[in-house]
Amino acid sequence: MSGWPSQKLAGLWVVLPFPPRPSAGPPSRRRMRSSCVLLTALVALAAYYIYIPLPSSVSDPWKLMLLDATFRSAQQVSNLIHFLGLSHHLLALNFIIVSFGKKSAWSSAQVKVTDTDFDGVEVRVFEGPPKPEEPLKRSIVYIHGGGWALASAKIRYYDELCTAMAEELNAVIVSIEYRLVPKVYFPEQIHDVVRATKYFLQPEVLHKYSVDPGRVGISGDSAGGNLAAALGQQFNQDTNLKNKLKVQALIYPVLQALDFNTPSYQQNMNTPILPRYVMVKYWVDYFNGNYDFVQAMIVNNHTSLDVDEASALRARLNWTSLLPTSITKNYKPVMQTTGNSRIVQEIPQLLDARSAPLIADQEVLQHLPKTYILTCEHDVLRDDGIMYAKRLESAGVEVTLDHFEDGFHGCMIFTSWPTNFSVGIRTRNSYIKWLDQNL
Ligand SMILES: *[C@@H]1O[C@H](CO)[C@@H](O)[C@H](O)[C@H]1NC(C)=O
Ligand SMILES: *[C@@H]1O[C@H](CO)[C@@H](O)[C@H](O)[C@H]1NC(C)=O
Ligand SMILES: *[C@@H]1O[C@H](CO)[C@@H](O)[C@H](O)[C@H]1NC(C)=O
Repeated sequence: MSGWPSQKLAGLWVVLPFPPRPSAGPPSRRRMRSSCVLLTALVALAAYYIYIPLPSSVSDPWKLMLLDATFRSAQQVSNLIHFLGLSHHLLALNFIIVSFGKKSAWSSAQVKVTDTDFDGVEVRVFEGPPKPEEPLKRSIVYIHGGGWALASAKIRYYDELCTAMAEELNAVIVSIEYRLVPKVYFPEQIHDVVRATKYFLQPEVLHKYSVDPGRVGISGDSAGGNLAAALGQQFNQDTNLKNKLKVQALIYPVLQALDFNTPSYQQNMNTPILPRYVMVKYWVDYFNGNYDFVQAMIVNNHTSLDVDEASALRARLNWTSLLPTSITKNYKPVMQTTGNSRIVQEIPQLLDARSAPLIADQEVLQHLPKTYILTCEHDVLRDDGIMYAKRLESAGVEVTLDHFEDGFHGCMIFTSWPTNFSVGIRTRNSYIKWLDQNL
């Protein structure tokens, strides 16, 4: 199991084996002194565990370190549970995440919240306040993030986001509780979001929720942004569903698994909440693949020049031509001459545009709806978003690229105490403002 234990946990074993030295003096003083030593050691250990070097330009760095340390310890506990054979590490991790913050459907005077299912797929629906002057509402189908394996429409973070959207946009928000890895793998997550969205778009269902059929959009963050982009492309190619979506809004989306050495992957390989090897493992898990490939994928051995299957696709994510020099800086492309062709033979899904919407044909891109893409500077996925914006723009799609210099991956859901970040609030406001003006 590569990547486990992570560097930080491995570090603990170096620190632990030095017991405090016995000291002279009267017993009570000695006890006090040894508790002092123990306390100092614990504080040092905690500080060592929590501290990670972060660029000063990131929003609220100390808070981010604490959030990262919390998430890291949950990951390590889950890896231990996996190692002991008690449960799959992703099931254990999701159990921890969901038990921390699951919320039951609770309606306020402003927003009505209901749990139901759309064609067998669970959804949580948020309905903004009725307004006599505006009988038909706008609507967003929302797909939460979490590496296709974690989180839920029902955890506090997503419940709060969708409540705020329903209230501020006076809209109906459908938040999809799609099935996760390891219960299902690619492309089942896509099937779930497509099935629920198709059901919702039926005239009688839209009517039931008082939704304007001309003002429905899709949106999602991280892996949810990946699923939203895949859904947008699929609807676009289905004549019955074409032009049914007015906008797509993608929040730091995951869009490709061919190049793990874009400038943002190189720059942020150790940045919380999503270090590079963690992202690569989410990909491998999504395809139920073998972790033995992770290290080779990190150096792009899966798309080396001798891997014929990848050759036509590489040009579609050629960042030396897609990204501006202000982004590429001095980073060099990592293009291996010889790699490992077994990887894409065993995991052909890596080269499938349904998993990597960035590599779709130009003809698929050109009819996509008006698009919003939010990117963060301190995020391995920054360049996935910027390259997609560029490809869409070249295909004639109207695109807004909203970049946050102090943003980190996942920041938009962190808006309330104790995990409130200034950039969390600013990204959310900017996103909702764009929807208000364009949906
Ligand atoms: C990448 O592939 C090359 C050529 O097969 C091999 O020598 C190298 O060890 C591989 N690197 C990793 C990290 O797997
Ligand atoms: C990427 O684009 C650059 C500049 O346009 C070009 O020189 C290079 O050959 C391209 N690489 C690939 C793999 O298409
Ligand atoms: C987070 O919330 C607390 C309590 O409301 C507030 O004092 C603090 O300034 C907030 N921090 C940020 C970064 O918004």
